[in-house]
Amino acid sequence: MDGNGRWARQRNLPRTAGHRAGVRSVRAVVEESVRLGIRALTLFAFSSENWRRPRSEVGVLMELFMSTLRAELRRMAENGVRLRIIGDRAAFPEKLQQRIAEAEEITYGNDRLVLQVAANYGGRWDLAAAARRLATEVAAGTLTAEAIDEAAVTARLAFADLPDPDLFIRTGGEQRLSNFLLWQCAYSELYFTALMWPDFGVDAYRLALEDFARRQRRFGLTGEQLRAESETD
Ligand code: FPP
Repeated sequence: MDGNGRWARQRNLPRTAGHRAGVRSVRAVVEESVRLGIRALTLFAFSSENWRRPRSEVGVLMELFMSTLRAELRRMAENGVRLRIIGDRAAFPEKLQQRIAEAEEITYGNDRLVLQVAANYGGRWDLAAAARRLATEVAAGTLTAEAIDEAAVTARLAFADLPDPDLFIRTGGEQRLSNFLLWQCAYSELYFTALMWPDFGVDAYRLALEDFARRQRRFGLTGEQLRAESETD
């Protein structure tokens, strides 16, 4: 969700006004995902590097997470949305951690859309944590080094129970992953748009999904092999 700060600056507003406007896009994209039957959506809300921003901006972001969680809980319940936070939540204010745990518990049984918010998340942090878990298990004798394969790594990442993302969307014009879901995005289709996140609404989201629908995902096969496979289906 990139471009909140620039969106605000273009309007002579403080950067934080961009984050507030960004919440509207979050709501629009979440609701459209539910309507379209998308089963999992992950939003990158706060990276491990974002702590380096001015204290006041970090403070506003924390407050926005708190107030949005409070305000949206009922709507999430009505829409069948299950909320999960991925990332190192221990660094968040105690109250926010509590609110996150409550929201996860209340929405646990909802099964239309899993909404993951990556907060204090980094793809390398995720991989390092998985490596630590594997090493601990090997040291304890419950796992052998030879048994460590791709599935073993995947199973120890932040969201082992969900499939890899089909589509990665980045707003704000930059064309890089910025330490998002590094392992999980190995085969994801990448979509970059120059729109700033607060301008990314339902129409822009649909355009991204239509673009995705036109792509041919080969997963290492040739186009001919794929056509042959779909003919035998
Ligand atoms: C990146 O834009 C955006 C963020 C660091 C924060 C995203 C947060 C929200 C949209 C608020 C609410 C989210 C939830 C899930 C309740 P930027 O500030 O890096 O923009 P810039 O590149 O233009 O400076």
